[in-house]
Amino acid sequence: MSELKLGDKAPNFDAETSEGKINFYDYLGDSWGILFSHPADYTPVCTTELGTVANYKDEFEKRNVKVMALSVDGLESHEGWIKDINETQNTTVNFPIIADEDKKVSNLYGMIHPKADDTQTVRSVYVIGPDKTIKLMITYPASTGRNFDELLRVIDSLQLTAYNKVATPANWKHGEDVVISPSVSNEEADKMFPKGYKTVKPYLRITPQPELKK
Ligand code: BEZ
Repeated sequence: MSELKLGDKAPNFDAETSEGKINFYDYLGDSWGILFSHPADYTPVCTTELGTVANYKDEFEKRNVKVMALSVDGLESHEGWIKDINETQNTTVNFPIIADEDKKVSNLYGMIHPKADDTQTVRSVYVIGPDKTIKLMITYPASTGRNFDELLRVIDSLQLTAYNKVATPANWKHGEDVVISPSVSNEEADKMFPKGYKTVKPYLRITPQPELKK
């Protein structure tokens, strides 16, 4: 079982995918990345998830994010299933799906949780930064489809906080006020946040969202 933690290097791999043989790091280049697993091909929740991700292509592109999916089914199965996803979800799958029949990548990333299911992957999501370190890990059970709006929201937060000394409060969405990191002194904050900030408590200082870099 993989013991990956936030901040660890995302393991690199070569894999057979629905778009040919791919080296993960080469595929990511300098972009942000999402690697996400689903339990099995030809299953209802997974079909809606992959269709949703394909339909969010522009949202991922705007954020400079490349997406790769994984299941432990084979290439032939993926190819037939992609046709169903395109047909039923009114889309065109536009990202590679790993055919991880030998479970090499699933095991590398700890995507099989034996007490949930010892043969299929759970719904894991890894967000990987341009430095190839793991910025976010979320795990859902097979019975719960993921909320990809939440994933976009978290990516906005990750990208904002990677380049600015701020953090995003509960339920924050792009464009809303943020909080100044506790490590920043008031003297530094005066220079760093030209739009100003409001001190609610000495540890709770609110400022308009700085510009987003990706
Ligand atoms: C699904 O994608 O619908 C699914 C897959 C495995 C178990 C339960 C649901």
